[in-house]
Parts: sequence; C-alpha cells; structure tokens
Amino acid sequence: MDKIHIPVLLNEVIDSLNINPDGFYVDCTLGDGGHSFEIYKKLSPDGLLVSIDQDDYAISFVKDFYKEDIKHNWIIEKSNFSYIDKVIQKYDTKPDGILMDLGLSSRQLEESHNRGFSYLEEEETLDMRMNKDLGVTARDLIHALSEKELTRLFKEYGEENLAHRIAKEIKKSNTTINTVGDLTRLIYKVVPAAHSKKNPSRRVFQALRIVVNDELDNLEIGLDKSFEVLSEKGRLCVISFHSLEDRIVKNFFSNKAGSGEGYLLFKSHIAPTDDEIMQNPRSASAKLRVLIKE
Ligand SMILES: C[S@@+](CC[C@H](N)C(=O)[O-])C[C@H]1O[C@@H](n2cnc3c(N)ncnc32)[C@H](O)[C@@H]1O
Repeated sequence: MDKIHIPVLLNEVIDSLNINPDGFYVDCTLGDGGHSFEIYKKLSPDGLLVSIDQDDYAISFVKDFYKEDIKHNWIIEKSNFSYIDKVIQKYDTKPDGILMDLGLSSRQLEESHNRGFSYLEEEETLDMRMNKDLGVTARDLIHALSEKELTRLFKEYGEENLAHRIAKEIKKSNTTINTVGDLTRLIYKVVPAAHSKKNPSRRVFQALRIVVNDELDNLEIGLDKSFEVLSEKGRLCVISFHSLEDRIVKNFFSNKAGSGEGYLLFKSHIAPTDDEIMQNPRSASAKLRVLIKE
C-alpha cells in the first residue's frame, strides 16, 4: 500500500492548532503522517515539528513515504507519548500545539505485520502490540488470565455485555488460541452475528488491544505531561474514538478548565460531517476536543 489514509478531522485539527509558522508543534501519534505533514507544510524553516509514534512500522513507512519532504525541522522519534516530556527536553522550547489522534491507524489494521489488530484477519497471530518491545501479547493474556479476570477485562475495557459467557467459552475450549480466527470462532458461538449490529468480536478486540498497550494509563499520563510542557496559550488537540478514551479526555479538560489552568476552545467537541463519514467511515465515532493553556 503506497497511499496514505485520509486523516480524520484534518481541517478542524489544523484550524484548532492555529499554527504559527515559526512555532513548535508535537504530533504524539504520527501514524501515516497525514496530520503531521499538513502541520509541517504550514511551518517556515524556523518552525519545528516533532512527530512521535511507538510503532516502528509507522515510523519506517512515513520516513520512506515523505523522504523528499523531511527536512531538518521535521523530527520523527520512536516513543510512547507518555514520555513526551523526555522526547522534547532537548529542544529547549515549549510546544505551541500538541496533537493526539488516538488508537490504531488504518494501516495497522490493514497491514499489521502479523499482529492481529483486526478481527477480520483470521490467519494472523493474536499479538496486538503496537510497540514490539512490549512484553505481553493478546494471546498471552487469553492464556494466562482466569475466567473471572477475562470477564472483567472484556467488561471493563470492551463494555461487552456478554463478557462472562465469552470468557467461559474461551476457558472451556480445548483448542489452543493462537490466531485471530481461533478467538473469533469462539466469540461467534456466544455472540451470533444477528445478535449485534456491529461485528461480534469488536468489543473483545478493543478490550485486548487496550490492555496489551496499556492505552488508558498512557493516555492519562500523556495528557498530564502534554499539558505541563505546553507553552502559555498553547493548544492541546485530542481526537478520541470510543467512550473510554473520550471520558478520560473530557474529564481532564473539564478539570483544567474548572481550575482556571486552561479553557475549552469548543463547548463540547467537534465531530466529523456526514460527508467526511461517507468518505471515511472509520471517522464516524471521532470526537475532537481542544484545551488552551492559560
Ligand atoms: C489513529 S493513528 C494516527 C493517524 C495519524 N494522525 C495520521 O494522520 O495518519 C494512531 C497512531 O498512534 C500510535 N500510538 C497510539 N498510542 C500511542 C502512544 N501511547 N504513544 C505513541 N504512539 C501511539 C499508533 O501506533 C498509531 O500509529
């Protein structure tokens, strides 16, 4: 695949960042580089963009795809955004804007390098680590956790109503669960397709991915540190895709607004237009929230 995916809420993000051509910007979630490149195009040679991703494959893709465009003032770093303070320490200046476009990229779903992020890729290994240096895979969790622990995991991180029945089916199964298909076939037994409007495996896959990558803790730390390092009047833009992420962002933003440390650019959030959703159905659940530091 040599085309980049359509970045979600692109114009809205660029408008919200209110880019100063000589300013310093951090994209915490490089992905395919779509948002980053649009920010980069707005900078003068004195401006600086640092883009972070924890996935080596995303970084290699962008470095290759944009090789003609990447100059001295677009720096790409492998890191978890929960270390944003360490990543930008060496630049000795505070960011004017920080972007987080949470979750998985379309490329990670479609070209996962055998990591099994998508419930549609039956042959792939049940791994789900965005960063290959992490220790525990989704398969490890399925094998190591008890029925009770798996129930809690599916309920808490997937908001799956049939969590207990799925966990029970997994634990009583005699087959070893190694691949995406090994797991989805068991889920199908408990949640028939007719039962749910969306794919019956969607919630379980979300739950496993969140836990494997410790996504919610990293988000809390990442928000905290991003706000701390922002310059005065700097803008923190976050796009979330499901209620667990959005709750964390919304609470963090309202606390900062409530304490007078910042204020909200929009009363609530911005959502994609019907046109955007038609062009890019994956944008449907996106919510953009923006906090400005006082
Ligand atoms: C939705 S995609 C970003 C898409 C990007 N905005 C674009 O225009 O192509 C999210 C990316 O963030 C990365 N990511 C998710 N959580 C992260 C974290 N805690 N630290 C660093 N990168 C993370 C993923 O590996 C993925 O590449």
